[in-house]
Amino acid sequence: MKITCVGYGFDLHRFGGDRSLRLGGVSIDTDKKVKAHSDGDVVLHALIDALLGVLGLGDIGDLFPDDSPSTEQMDSRDMLLAVLSAGKIVGLKVINVDLTVVLDDPKLGEKKTEIRDRLAELLGVPRAYVSVKAKTSEGLYPDAIACHCVCLCERARTD
Ligand code: C5P
Ligand code: MG
Repeated sequence: MKITCVGYGFDLHRFGGDRSLRLGGVSIDTDKKVKAHSDGDVVLHALIDALLGVLGLGDIGDLFPDDSPSTEQMDSRDMLLAVLSAGKIVGLKVINVDLTVVLDDPKLGEKKTEIRDRLAELLGVPRAYVSVKAKTSEGLYPDAIACHCVCLCERARTD
């Protein structure tokens, strides 16, 4: 039998590192560099934690420890694909994803559409069911970027 489950994920990184800004695998044109062990893609990290919530498989750090050489500079798209692959065991099907990036500068504008399309492609979900929003922090957190994500999924019951 199948059930519908909601997942929630959050991620935050500081600026001031050396990773070029990538959101959902899309490069963002800015001088700001992210401090991170992997590639520091907060959109993919929040999405991965949301999916792990649906799967009940812990959190991103359990699967991809941020103190391991194996995850240094890791492309977060590979983390997402590994999680989707793990989800196949319970027939994971993503119904929709809704996320908000919190970022003062730069304004994402048209990039939101590109990120949406990239996520839809990575997840194998029609773009109509992927939503990418952005918010400033009203200047409160100029040195950070964050992302909140919820996703609705279908999966096999295992209880
Ligand atoms: O945070 P605030 O409400 O002022 O954001 C206004 C709008 O600016 C958002 O709804 C979004 O359309 C856009 N925005 C953006 N990129 C950001 C922050 C906000 O495109 N980094
Ligand atoms: Mg992260």
